[in-house]
Amino acid sequence: MTSNTLVLPPGFLWGIATSSFQIEGATKEDGRGPSIWDKICREKDAVANGDTADIACDHYHRYAEDIALMRDMGLKNYRFSVAWPRLLPLGSGSVNQKGLDFYDRLIDRLLASGIEPWLCLLHSDFPLALHDRGGWINRDSVDWFADYAVLVARHYGDRVKHFATINEPSLHALFGYGINPTAPGFPDRSANLQVIHHLNLGHGVAVDVLRAWVPGASIGCIHARQPVRPVSDGPEDRKAAEILDEHWNLCFPDPQILGYYPPNIAREIEPYVRPGDLAKICRPVDWFGINHYSIVHAKSDTDTVWGFSLAGSSVKMPETEIGWTICPEAFREELLRISKTYRLPIYVTENGCGSNKDAPDANGEVNDQHRIDYLTAYIGSMTEAIAQGADVRGYFAWSLLDNFEWNAGYASRFGLVYVDYATQRRIPKASAKWYSRLISGGKV
Ligand code: FCB
Repeated sequence: MTSNTLVLPPGFLWGIATSSFQIEGATKEDGRGPSIWDKICREKDAVANGDTADIACDHYHRYAEDIALMRDMGLKNYRFSVAWPRLLPLGSGSVNQKGLDFYDRLIDRLLASGIEPWLCLLHSDFPLALHDRGGWINRDSVDWFADYAVLVARHYGDRVKHFATINEPSLHALFGYGINPTAPGFPDRSANLQVIHHLNLGHGVAVDVLRAWVPGASIGCIHARQPVRPVSDGPEDRKAAEILDEHWNLCFPDPQILGYYPPNIAREIEPYVRPGDLAKICRPVDWFGINHYSIVHAKSDTDTVWGFSLAGSSVKMPETEIGWTICPEAFREELLRISKTYRLPIYVTENGCGSNKDAPDANGEVNDQHRIDYLTAYIGSMTEAIAQGADVRGYFAWSLLDNFEWNAGYASRFGLVYVDYATQRRIPKASAKWYSRLISGGKV
């Protein structure tokens, strides 16, 4: 055994992740309805360079090529999301057969290529028609989500066994309703609290639906978990960090897995919690999904709805090319905290490194050594957490392709595969080749 052989539990899974809105394109094709992000893309200054996801990586048409890329990399697990408005253009009611057909083609091709599909029901592209009816502020959203979950479970449950309910609900609630600016934009405390509670209820009903319709399903929710540090040691900043930690990291997994809200939110959310709600939210799940990239800093800010705002670190720390703090030891800490608190098998459902400089060199190759360094450090930190007792069962790199990175548009590239957006040509970067070697041999 060489010193760089990874020590991992037997059966450890390696995979890669994407999301529907970020790669599919074809936003107006074959009956797909608009999502909130189609609207945001049209708002002035909301997305860098005025980028839209109308074409994105054109994965809707090029999915077979993308699956072949995964197969060539030796990948056996693929995490993707279904675009709710592609199946239900108005979010509820009539079903779009062509939308169902697309994911049939995708799933069948994955399975034929020996790749296990991990299907996430919702990754930010919430139907605009439902947003116009109040979105997650409206308690009816729980039933809308349940009906959509039934459709997905009934249609794909014969072939898909791994399901995630919602990707990063905390960031949807926090950035959409607690801090501006991102979708859908309501800087208001009560709206924020209702959204938190209804997303949690939505998760709970979706777990029940998936259990009922898909025998043997393996189900989890995907949580954004970035340790929060105060910018200073002062009591106000420490309080700000405590509250941000509840919003960013705790207010979804705590009620879903432990059955209660974290203390500050618990007091505020009470008016929206009906008898029996917490039991509906706290349904047995099979695993904990963690998306982790960095750490965040909080500072006290009495001008904001929650009394905190995000801040840069007061100490100089290494950063990725897009300015995200590199702190692999925080990954180990967070994996251990999750393992101790929730006592569930953990899957790292996203981890990766963004760049605004990745580009082909004179030989047409993309040498992203900075990403290999980042991934080596983070995967190393994960193995330390495992050695110290964290029950981590798998790791999905973010992301297969460079893609539409929300407000940053196409300026931030997270792919292991480069996308030349003008031609849609895919070029596996050095990191794709490195990852392929890693997952086949377990060595970094
Ligand atoms: C996560 C999102 C994912 C991607 C990465 C960089 O928060 O889940 O869609 O944007 O960040």
